[in-house]
Amino acid sequence: MATKFIVSRYNSETDAKPYFQDFFLDIPKGATLLDCLNLIKWQQDGTLTFRMSCRSAICGSCAMRVNGHARLACKTQAVDVVMDGAVKIEPLGNMKTIKDLAVDLEPFWASLEKIKPWLQPDEGEHYEKERLQSHDDQMKIDHASTCILCASCFSDCNALEVDSKFLGPATLAKGQRFVYDTRDAETESRLDYLSRLHGMWDCTHCAECSTRCPTDAKPLDRIKELRTAAMVHGFTNNNGARHVLGFRESVGGFKGIGGGGLLNENYLPVRSVGFNLDGIFSLIPVGFRMFIRRKNPSLIPHMIEKIGEVRKMFRRFDEYRKE
Ligand code: SF4
Ligand code: SF4
Ligand code: FES
Repeated sequence: MATKFIVSRYNSETDAKPYFQDFFLDIPKGATLLDCLNLIKWQQDGTLTFRMSCRSAICGSCAMRVNGHARLACKTQAVDVVMDGAVKIEPLGNMKTIKDLAVDLEPFWASLEKIKPWLQPDEGEHYEKERLQSHDDQMKIDHASTCILCASCFSDCNALEVDSKFLGPATLAKGQRFVYDTRDAETESRLDYLSRLHGMWDCTHCAECSTRCPTDAKPLDRIKELRTAAMVHGFTNNNGARHVLGFRESVGGFKGIGGGGLLNENYLPVRSVGFNLDGIFSLIPVGFRMFIRRKNPSLIPHMIEKIGEVRKMFRRFDEYRKE
């Protein structure tokens, strides 16, 4: 039986808005989604527009939304995405559509360019020969190096949907690749930039990027590594880093004081914005709304049973970090 391909169509020069067009095709055995789109284009409608190049999941051109989520069409077996006899195909999200399934990738490239995605060696050094990396050093950047710049993560990132200035998952993964590269001399300036507003701390941990990523780049894991590097290098003067420190202090205690084993929801927001008047004033509206709806947390911090076990765990972790 023929499968229904529900394809988003749009021509930015002539159409007011996108619309769906149905195509019917018998999926040949072993055909990828890209193979099917090519058959539709060659046999049914030559004007259907989409990007492709390698057909081997290497170039990153054929990313599109399939049944609502970004995927590489050439890496997707068509039969695997058919639901109730149909498959819905749309352009990537978080970018404007130019024609049918082809989007304007400019915001994706612009974000990437901001972090200077190339190796910046020490200008004062004279390197006589190629600098080889040890196996262990290469492993630190191996995952991020597999990124094929397909923009699937950029398309499905929830944080980007509400903040178009957010650097986005691929850019942050690329940032990790250079921060952890032992040949790069700009670790500090890179971490400084990546720690700012719209950077690594604005990720909401939804994990869509890693779920959609067709390679081992898995941006959310790289973002976590970036955050670790930022904390270790002392880039803690921002809401995100303070939030992490506040969480740790609230649950595990700080220099032997506090730490009831549970999150102190009165302490955490104040610690996150920093102990300053502007920050504290910015919390008043939400605090007031919580108070009206009786959702404000108790002013007396909770203390769990066996708090000693929690503190022991944190002490062990601190010792481990020192080692
Ligand atoms: S985990 Fe962070 S970067 Fe990844 S998609 Fe979600 S918000 Fe975006
Ligand atoms: S990180 Fe993954 S999903 Fe994002 S651009 Fe690179 S390969 Fe594509
Ligand atoms: S055509 Fe190159 S990744 Fe699909």
